Amino acid sequence: MYDFAIAALADKQALYRELDGALDALTADEPDAIANMANAAALLWQYLPDLNWSGFYRAIGETLVLGPFQGKPACIRIPFGSGVCGAAAATRQVQCVADVHAFPGHIACDAASAAELVVPVIHAGRLIAVLDLDSPVAGRFDDADVAGCTMLMKRLAGRIAG
Ligand code: SME
Repeated sequence: MYDFAIAALADKQALYRELDGALDALTADEPDAIANMANAAALLWQYLPDLNWSGFYRAIGETLVLGPFQGKPACIRIPFGSGVCGAAAATRQVQCVADVHAFPGHIACDAASAAELVVPVIHAGRLIAVLDLDSPVAGRFDDADVAGCTMLMKRLAGRIAG
């Protein structure tokens, strides 16, 4: 069992620093990509408030394939360029969407989702996966979440590259 006892910090930068330490502890000695994605998804699910989905899609060819996650069962395959995750994969740019209903082509896996943050995970120039966070709260994600999740995915990238 891991109990990181991370407080619900109002200071997001401090929260992400704590999460970075916890993610490092969870994944540093483990070579298995699935195990590391699973623990990363669970860590974020446990400590980031107001999420209804937290997980990974793996880049396989030009398709994103569902990986380890927490939340409701989700769409399994997303072509690059489709929806928010597909846009992140195609452009390799973070997608921070305040209102998914205004995003062209958004794929509604859970009707409760209102905001979404998708971070590409790149290792040695290769897109490995995308981290997908969904929230029922419109405007849930801000620049601090983008910076924090980008830092976490830099930490994780080499540990899920397989
Ligand atoms: N809404 C995402 C699809 C994945 S689910 O949210 C888990 C999208 O538009 O890419």
